[in-house]
Amino acid sequence: MFNLKLLYPVYTLDNKSLLPVGSVLSEETLNILVSSNRDPHYQKCSLLQYGSIKKDMLQFLIEPPYNMIFADEKKISDLLRLMENIKFISPLLRSLDYFKQHDFYTYRHLLMVFALSTLLSINLISDYRERLREIAAGPTHDIGKICVPLNILKKTMPLTQTELNKLKHHAATSYVLLSYYLRDAGHFSARAARDHHEKKDGAGYPRGIRLEDLMVEIVAVSDVYDALISPRPYRPASYENRTACEEITEMAERGEINRKVVQALIAHIRRSRPQYDKCIVSKEKGGIPPSINFHGVFAEEGNPSE
Ligand SMILES: [Fe+2]
Ligand SMILES: [Fe+2]
Repeated sequence: MFNLKLLYPVYTLDNKSLLPVGSVLSEETLNILVSSNRDPHYQKCSLLQYGSIKKDMLQFLIEPPYNMIFADEKKISDLLRLMENIKFISPLLRSLDYFKQHDFYTYRHLLMVFALSTLLSINLISDYRERLREIAAGPTHDIGKICVPLNILKKTMPLTQTELNKLKHHAATSYVLLSYYLRDAGHFSARAARDHHEKKDGAGYPRGIRLEDLMVEIVAVSDVYDALISPRPYRPASYENRTACEEITEMAERGEINRKVVQALIAHIRRSRPQYDKCIVSKEKGGIPPSINFHGVFAEEGNPSE
């Protein structure tokens, strides 16, 4: 498998340059990157105890359609019990502060991918330590967006191809930042961040690999579902829950995302609460996608960003 090459530089929130444009993420480069982090004395804090994270997440969970998925109080207490074991070092916590302050959509998205992947891990991952590794990846999977200009993240009109390239680069950037901060280029959170936009059929990015790792696929499905049902800058209305379920079902049918993970998610959405592996997912389509959606629509290069 080829090594990723950076199309843009990677720097930290303190503006420390980690890798310049053109760097090839070979084993050697990653080893140098990891050993260049000589600050092992980061403070650690329980994620749920940090700032207003727990309060904000509980608020998001009572908003539709999450109020339907998490209607059962036992589900929320199981979720919190697992989440209480997640501790983050200070630079990762500060990235959440950054998003809360500058890009609230991404902040909310990170907490909801955290919640959804925790819920799905209870069904799909039996090993407790693997489950903790899984859920810790949710809140950092898009950390590379700290290097994407805010006028691109928040643009309400179609992106140019260059702007889209900068946006997509967040996957590789997230991998570099997490490898550096966690001092391990093989850490699950770093790999999940790098690969969460890959697809089972190899049509994703940044490497175009065939995604086959169930743990990354849980983050990937949670990511797609939350993106559909949330308002986005380029799409004023979000997908209705029913239409979003149809979209992810169709993506699973086309072999892009993991069918078993989609089935588990839809089992949580159904009122009848079927057992996740017995949930029958209909292929019928009846929902109407939002009429205004600039996803996949390009602007001419040179048009100034909003
Ligand atoms: Fe992403
Ligand atoms: Fe995401």
